[in-house]
Amino acid sequence: MLLTTEEENVLNGNFGIGKSNAMKLLVSLGEMFDADRLIPIKRAHWAVSGQEGDLFFAEKLANSGARVSVVTTTNPAWDSSLSDLFHVDIDDYERSLLDRTIEVSDKLGVIKSFNCTPYLYKDVPSFGEHTAFSESSATPYINSVYGARTNRESSSSALAAGVIGKTPNYGLHLDKNRVPNITVDVSAQIKDDFDMGLLGWYLGEILKPDDVPLIRGLSSEMTEEGLRDFGAMINTSGAVSLFHLEGVTPEVKRISDTSLWVTSREKITVTSEDVERVRKKFTERGGKINSVYIGCPHSTIPEIMKVNRLLDGRKVNDDVKFLIFTSATNLKILGENVKKLASKGVYVMQDSCVDEPVFKFTEGGLGATNSLKAAYYRKRRNQEFVVTTIENLVEAAVRGYI
Ligand code: F3S
Repeated sequence: MLLTTEEENVLNGNFGIGKSNAMKLLVSLGEMFDADRLIPIKRAHWAVSGQEGDLFFAEKLANSGARVSVVTTTNPAWDSSLSDLFHVDIDDYERSLLDRTIEVSDKLGVIKSFNCTPYLYKDVPSFGEHTAFSESSATPYINSVYGARTNRESSSSALAAGVIGKTPNYGLHLDKNRVPNITVDVSAQIKDDFDMGLLGWYLGEILKPDDVPLIRGLSSEMTEEGLRDFGAMINTSGAVSLFHLEGVTPEVKRISDTSLWVTSREKITVTSEDVERVRKKFTERGGKINSVYIGCPHSTIPEIMKVNRLLDGRKVNDDVKFLIFTSATNLKILGENVKKLASKGVYVMQDSCVDEPVFKFTEGGLGATNSLKAAYYRKRRNQEFVVTTIENLVEAAVRGYI
């Protein structure tokens, strides 16, 4: 990979050890993937998770003087006030991971947005813009829905890119790798955002990591929630970071010359049975539930207000913790509505991720969620789920069983 004189100097430590460490990671990555050079970025998203693996590299950078040079936002960890609210016994090590996450974020100068959907509303890259985003729902959303460009970054490579302000020029930064190599015809009935998540999960399981699908047969009236969930699931069950939806996403026009396509794979069709199989895989037999999880990825304001509306004149069952995860910004905008929801038994929380120790009080019981990703992660924490729509979740929460 060709480096400019200034980049060589950064690599050699002439601008400090911290920057040199970040540059070493980017150069190794670039050489591994045959990048020709580094390209400038204007923003990065660091999927720090409040876990040891991410903190190791971040602390190494911060302690050797590195600071981000472009706007770098962060994924959620957990809101420290929740341990008191839910009377959770957090041990010293779990608490130290959160404290270290906050401390290293301050040292690095990242924006402590603690939100996994930075691409909605406030950190929106433009068409063709080069970025470095980690986080499973973020990479497909900005690549596909905005036509911006990012590889499927790890937490560490996104942070290194934020420090240097550049990323290696390979993969989805290049025109040739953004052209579809497989056509997906959907004959299944995809009715709502929830079904988009199921479809995404199914496709993630059958597509290869480098596949770029052109998807046909879906309604052109997509919601941002449906697109968010589709991307989150296709990039959790699999590793697909760019998709094109006919009639919806912006690059379909550019790639309409099918002679450009790599036709190494046949067209596939997704049937209702395929989608139904995914639902069944994640749905335990019903029963008494101890919790409802909504907001993996973080909920939008319309989703939260929908819960509010559906609960009109009713309350969540005393035995159920109804948890909604969202950004601090959304929480502010919602204002008094957060109190109204609390009076109905719904906790709307900022800065937090479903996969954190502060929610251990629901482990061992049956939960209900609209997110396959939440079900997947929390299964590792000894909690089974029924996955279903927000409408069904509200009814189950009132009854106390599903
Ligand atoms: Fe967000 Fe955590 Fe889910 S980062 S997407 S709430 S696993």
